[in-house]
Amino acid sequence: MAFICLLHNYITIYVYPYRERDFRPVAAMSTLLINQPKYTWLKELGLSEDNGGVFNGTWGGKGEVVTSYCPANNEPIARVRQATMAEYEETVQKAREAWKVWADIPAPKRGEIVRQIGDALRKKIKVLGSLVSLEMGKIYVEGVGEVQEYVDVCDYAVGLSRMIGGPVLPSERPGHALIEQWNPVGLVGIITAFNFPVAVYGWNNAIALICGNVCLWKGAPTTPLTSVAVTKIVAEVLEQNNLPGAICSMTCGGADIGSAIAKDKQVDLVSFTGSTHVGKQVALMVQERFGRQLLELGGNNAIIVFEDADLNLVVPSALFASVGTAGQRCTTTRRLMLHESVHDEVVERLVKAYKQVRIGDPWDPSTLYGPLHTKQAVQQYLNAVEQAKQQGGTLVCGGKVMDRPGNYVEPTIFTGLAHDAPIVHTETFVPILYVIKFKTEEEAFTWNNEVKQGLSSSIFTKDMGRVFRWLGPKGSDCGIVNVNIPTSGAEIGGAFGGEKHTGGGRESGSDSWKQYMRRSTCTINYSKDLPLAQGIKFE
Ligand code: UN1
Repeated sequence: MAFICLLHNYITIYVYPYRERDFRPVAAMSTLLINQPKYTWLKELGLSEDNGGVFNGTWGGKGEVVTSYCPANNEPIARVRQATMAEYEETVQKAREAWKVWADIPAPKRGEIVRQIGDALRKKIKVLGSLVSLEMGKIYVEGVGEVQEYVDVCDYAVGLSRMIGGPVLPSERPGHALIEQWNPVGLVGIITAFNFPVAVYGWNNAIALICGNVCLWKGAPTTPLTSVAVTKIVAEVLEQNNLPGAICSMTCGGADIGSAIAKDKQVDLVSFTGSTHVGKQVALMVQERFGRQLLELGGNNAIIVFEDADLNLVVPSALFASVGTAGQRCTTTRRLMLHESVHDEVVERLVKAYKQVRIGDPWDPSTLYGPLHTKQAVQQYLNAVEQAKQQGGTLVCGGKVMDRPGNYVEPTIFTGLAHDAPIVHTETFVPILYVIKFKTEEEAFTWNNEVKQGLSSSIFTKDMGRVFRWLGPKGSDCGIVNVNIPTSGAEIGGAFGGEKHTGGGRESGSDSWKQYMRRSTCTINYSKDLPLAQGIKFE
């Protein structure tokens, strides 16, 4: 059922049923950005006014229609038809069928397909990066940068496809071999967040594929066009290789599809990236069925600047990590701990740097700082500013919503808050930096670790002893532990993820592939005797 009403000078159609928190009007065709000459490049990605939000070898989408809005001006870009529950079920079946084909393909040959996916992404990197910028709101270079992460992880996975495997271990029994065999888990459900609408899927997809898994992706409901565009690129590669498209399935949707994936015993691994709050619900649903999960949840990341730090590294690092992506990375620096001897100088230099940040349309190449993703985020920003003031913070920079179209807020710095003020211990996904003064290394390390999250952390120092204390058992408790670089901007070659309320998962490089496989310990007797382990005689 739909009715038409006039709102903000453009025709909008409200479609029921809707869930209140996801509600945004469905825009009429004539007002869509995709129909304006400036945005015809969107069609290079195979996008149109109306896009199917389901892929399982064929395209579908019979569910709720969502309009994707540009955060820089809140104009509608295009529409996506999400998955119904029936389409979800059908997609899971098709993905599991496709697994029977995919699992039989030797890993290096699977790597060859992933190599082709990487190449296909390379060809579209600029246009896909532009879409990310338009739909998510991050600046163009960062949009391109996250497609680059997908390309890079494809390259990485190609090499890995010839390297994954287990050791042959010494058996204590004569005539026995003890080996580890790794097999794919089967179907990997990948639920990703709005802030990295390409890269996080890419990390999971490339590694899961070479391991012999098939994927079912649900991207964020506010970045559906990016999910559709990426899936079209991947689907074309599968088609060219006469492989079932359902190897890389997609069901766009909201919490309904997310919960279905979490509860579905046919989904062998649930990889979830998002807030700690939702991640906990997902974790409980998956655990309830003894399913496997890989969680990448919130961070509350600190940079610690010691008295011997090179401040020429500190200032641009803190700027990039706190203002970059408008504070919407899970690795964003939210706490800047400054030794009392450098506190005032760093604050002064940082405020100066903040004031020079070029704010504008995210797709403009000279812009460094774009909008927040949604209007709700603007509200969260305002609430956090208010709370920081109430909890004793001094506003030294920013603090206001900007008077321009789109969801722009000023990048903000507070000083003077206690290290354990409730707002400092809260991850608010906006560009607010809390500056904290400290006296000793022990104090700084303790404060780094006292938050619930454990994703990323960084110190700035020249003291080698301190560096190794920071890496050691009494140092940072995070999954990412840096020295003289920002908390954000991790490379794909390392394992990405964190401890405690960050969820414990590891994605992308190093031995993260193990999370996408199940291990069998195999003992093979090639002798004519039956010696038992531990020397037991059972005669
Ligand atoms: C995220 O914000 O969910 O390390 C991922 C970084 C990026 C990934 C962030 N490579 O900042």
